[in-house]
Amino acid sequence: MADFDALGGADRVAQIMGDLVDRMSRDFIIGYLFEGRDLDRVKRLEAELAGAHLGGPARYSGRPVGTVHRPLRISRGHFRRRVALLEVVLRDHGVAEAIRDRWIRHDRALEPVITDGTDCVLAEGVS
Ligand code: HEM
Repeated sequence: MADFDALGGADRVAQIMGDLVDRMSRDFIIGYLFEGRDLDRVKRLEAELAGAHLGGPARYSGRPVGTVHRPLRISRGHFRRRVALLEVVLRDHGVAEAIRDRWIRHDRALEPVITDGTDCVLAEGVS
């Protein structure tokens, strides 16, 4: 059975990604990046993307993730923060360990596409 079905399908994935986007947008480290964004749209597209990699039937209809994130100048630290929040949200939702591991591995693999490769945004531009 696909992870998507084991989780309970599209509604469950939408709840999980809704929580993740809420947590990211309120987070004291990465929350500022979400100011003024259409969070409902981000939630919907995050759920689509997650659904697709979990083996669900729907396709991702958003922009390529590299194109979306490149202008945001996301550091590797920002990225690690998202992965930490995802881990907490998956645990809160009672997602089984094996599915959690695969989900986190999928997200981690996107790090080079999503980040600008810098380790810490605080160290940039200081002279
Ligand atoms: C594996 C990691 C990530 C995935 C899978 C992901 C996925 C997505 C998706 C699907 C969208 C919507 C795409 C669209 O508008 O067409 C989005 C938008 C966005 N993401 Fe991510 N994201 C990731 C990491 C991050 C990180 C680390 C941050 C910030 C620390 C971030 C901040 C944002 C913001 C601010 C938007 C809204 C951009 C806009 O409205 O133009 N994302 N993300």
